[in-house]
Amino acid sequence: MNAAAEVRHLTVSYGEKPVLMDVSLTIPCGSFAAIVGPNGAGKTTLMKTMLGLVKPLAGEVSIPARGRRGAVGYVPQSESIDRDFPISAYEVALMGRYASLGWFRRPGKADKSVAEECLRRVGMEKFASRQIGELSGGQQQRVFLARALAQDAEIYFLDEPLKGVDAVSERAIISILRGLCAEGKTVVMVHHDLRTVRDYFDWVSIINLGVVASGAVEDVFCERNIDRAYSRRAAEAAV
Ligand SMILES: Nc1ncnc2c1ncn2[C@@H]1O[C@H](COP(=O)(O)OP(=O)(O)O)[C@@H](O)[C@H]1O
Ligand SMILES: [Mg+2]
Repeated sequence: MNAAAEVRHLTVSYGEKPVLMDVSLTIPCGSFAAIVGPNGAGKTTLMKTMLGLVKPLAGEVSIPARGRRGAVGYVPQSESIDRDFPISAYEVALMGRYASLGWFRRPGKADKSVAEECLRRVGMEKFASRQIGELSGGQQQRVFLARALAQDAEIYFLDEPLKGVDAVSERAIISILRGLCAEGKTVVMVHHDLRTVRDYFDWVSIINLGVVASGAVEDVFCERNIDRAYSRRAAEAAV
């Protein structure tokens, strides 16, 4: 198996107590991979550590795409955006081009048409000049996805991109991400809705402090593993 990302014996802590403990997993190239687990399981931390934004206490991360500028895309967990933030949907999408250009080169005509095309792909072309803060949560997520698409990465990390998103945007986002995987790109996504894991993903990592299971959805996404991940915290609390 060709790995797009590999994590070995990762332990991460913000204070005394680790939030990830001895996590090892592999994400195959071209897969649409979910990271699931209860609130506070360490999903966001795992993603940030894989991206190099959080330094682990121990362990290693290998993402071969990191060698090329702009080849790793990231859509962070949505934050509330200031309604007056003075940047349009189009400008957000265009920002994706800087990742591959470097910050000191100005985007040219070709970059601008890529940004427009990516807004079209997410169905947001009509809102190109709208300020990002004036859009709904789902629309904002689509614009952030357009920014990631404009970057033309090889591997995309998305942290709960469907949170607070309407059904239409959810379908649009999933179909775009599937399209990326069909092109051979890898998509890693933190996901909170266990009911749709089977429909959407081909790979899943179930985590809670450690890895409960990680593999092909049909092999590891079973009630037993889900129970183990979602009851571990409750079991700990009861001790
Ligand atoms: N910057 C931080 N400083 C201290 N603790 C943090 C920080 N970020 C997350 N945590 C804690 O680490 C644990 C895992 O958080 P997180 O990775 O955000 O989980 P998830 O995304 O699965 O909900 C939680 O207990 C959370 O409170
Ligand atoms: Mg999170």
